Amino acid sequence: MSVGIIGTGHYAPDNIVTNKDLEKMVDTTDEWIRSRTGIEERRIAKDDEDSSDMAYEAAKLALADANITAEELDLILVATVTPDTPFPSVSCMIQEKLGATNAASMDVSAACAGFMYGVITGQQFIQTGVYNHVLVIGVDKLSKITDWTDRNTCVLLGDGAGAAVLGKVSDDKGILSFELGSDGSGGKYLYQNEDNYLVMDGSSVFKFAVRQMPESSINVIEKAGLKKEDVDYLVPHQANIRIMEAARKRLGIPEDRMAKTVKQYGNNSSASIPIALSESLKQGKIKDGDVIVMVGFGGGLTWGAVALRWGK
Ligand code: UT7
Repeated sequence: MSVGIIGTGHYAPDNIVTNKDLEKMVDTTDEWIRSRTGIEERRIAKDDEDSSDMAYEAAKLALADANITAEELDLILVATVTPDTPFPSVSCMIQEKLGATNAASMDVSAACAGFMYGVITGQQFIQTGVYNHVLVIGVDKLSKITDWTDRNTCVLLGDGAGAAVLGKVSDDKGILSFELGSDGSGGKYLYQNEDNYLVMDGSSVFKFAVRQMPESSINVIEKAGLKKEDVDYLVPHQANIRIMEAARKRLGIPEDRMAKTVKQYGNNSSASIPIALSESLKQGKIKDGDVIVMVGFGGGLTWGAVALRWGK
């Protein structure tokens, strides 16, 4: 028995904010944002649409895709750095909204690597035979902690949610290997300040990410007993197209074999990888039996990578 992803779903708010819109708000240009980040637009949630609302939409789609009911969930893990409130957790709010009467619930905080932490935490409960189904959601409403006068950060971020249901799959499918890591000494590069705004030293995070993404990817590929050439599809954290491209090239993966949602969504933090995964599946880019690598990094600093063979 192995543990795999048996259903996915994602949700992005309707409201689109383009680079041109941002030109009116801060000293920036569409050209600068496109060329330095690959971002063209992002989705921003309404004031009354919080993380739990977005997470709920993604969760319903993932459950339907997995063809299971909410009552069949044993555990709900929500990766987020922007919960509606510190407590109750977003996961408890989702438990109630879904009517997941048999599920335990907790939030996971590992910033943009949060979904990787959630998936691997959930995997342990199923692998040990304790639980059958775990719902993992990555959600962030970064707009509520964005300083809309800071051009260094406000052009990069967007809101959204992505979800995946973990369950038992056949022996030759599912999660093959993982790596999770952290380095608190880098906390100063990306954090929430006393005014509650996200603050980032972009170039330090950039250097860390360009090294970490390929390194973690190669580690999970080797742990799975595979070679770089065996990887069919890469789902990297969608922070900056230049970071993603550097990782893709190091791994020797063809351009059309990498998920790219950064252009239309920007950096969705915890939601970025599950949104990219869910969109890639909907677009038919991932096929049964494909080896995929998901890899992320974020504030903490944290990082995580997972290699899996797609399918049930
Ligand atoms: O989810 C994980 C966390 N986030 C990330 O992964 C982000 C990692 N970092 C990055 O993606 C990049 O470092 C940035 C996109 C943030 C910046 O790109 P860069 O090529 O590293 O630019 P830079 O920091 O070297 O800044 C170049 C210039 C600076 O001006 P000076 O000091 O050279 O005069 C910035 O002030 O660009 C300026 N700048 C801007 N100009 C126009 C910074 N933001 C903007 C902006 N529009 N929005």
